[in-house]
Amino acid sequence: MKAIRVLHLCFLCLLVSAILLKSADCHSWKKKLPKPCKNLVLYFHDIIYNGKNAENATSALVAAPEGANLTIMTGNNHFGNLAVFDDPITLDNNLHSPPVGRAQGFYFYDMKNTFSAWLGFTFVLNSTDHKGTITFNGADPILTKYRDISVVGGTGDFLMARGIATISTDSYEGEVYFRLRVNITLYECY
Ligand SMILES: *[C@@H]1O[C@H](CO)[C@@H](O)[C@H](O)[C@H]1NC(C)=O
Ligand SMILES: *[C@@H]1O[C@H](CO)[C@@H](O)[C@H](O)[C@H]1NC(C)=O
Ligand SMILES: *[C@@H]1O[C@H](CO)[C@@H](O)[C@H](O)[C@H]1NC(C)=O
Ligand SMILES: *[C@@H]1O[C@H](CO)[C@@H](O)[C@H](O)[C@H]1NC(C)=O
Repeated sequence: MKAIRVLHLCFLCLLVSAILLKSADCHSWKKKLPKPCKNLVLYFHDIIYNGKNAENATSALVAAPEGANLTIMTGNNHFGNLAVFDDPITLDNNLHSPPVGRAQGFYFYDMKNTFSAWLGFTFVLNSTDHKGTITFNGADPILTKYRDISVVGGTGDFLMARGIATISTDSYEGEVYFRLRVNITLYECY
């Protein structure tokens, strides 16, 4: 009888320590962030089609709420507008600098009570410095100065890239032009 009780106690001890060890383990999932392995800052320029600038436009509304016009952004902070873009990427903030690639993807405005968008796009780079693609996505609370979006992958020079990109609105002109500064920090490089 006594031996069984001791055995039970031992078993209980083991169980408790196993649980404690496991929960201690749970805290170690938060790995230390490695040092960045690559950093680059690029700009891209978006000229939205407004019905009159077909020659220069690099993006166009392709969806809008029922009854809205595809050449005029909706009220309600553009809620429900979806734009597809093929924008030039430059090394500096000048629209007329030689492009080093194209930013291709889409954004849509997703909040009625403030300016907020969601971005999904790829930098297709083809310059002497960089050849390859970097793919991004994430929420873009436009009124915040610096927004972090995810670098979810890449090809070529950016094979399987992972990291974050800090974007900021470098300039805008009404509802026709905006320029984003993209500070790309990669934590995984091959
Ligand atoms: C297109 O861009 C050129 C060069 O910046 C400018 O001269 C021209 O007025 C623009 N055209 C339109 C329709 O915005
Ligand atoms: C959109 O609005 C413009 C300017 O008011 C107008 O010229 C155009 O016909 C409208 N387009 C549609 C599809 O309603
Ligand atoms: C990159 O540029 C080179 C030289 O201009 C061209 O031959 C090649 O097709 C381009 N590649 C892509 C993927 O655009
Ligand atoms: C880019 O972002 C990284 C990480 O957030 C930061 O350390 C670096 O100073 C930034 N570089 C520029 C040029 O803004």
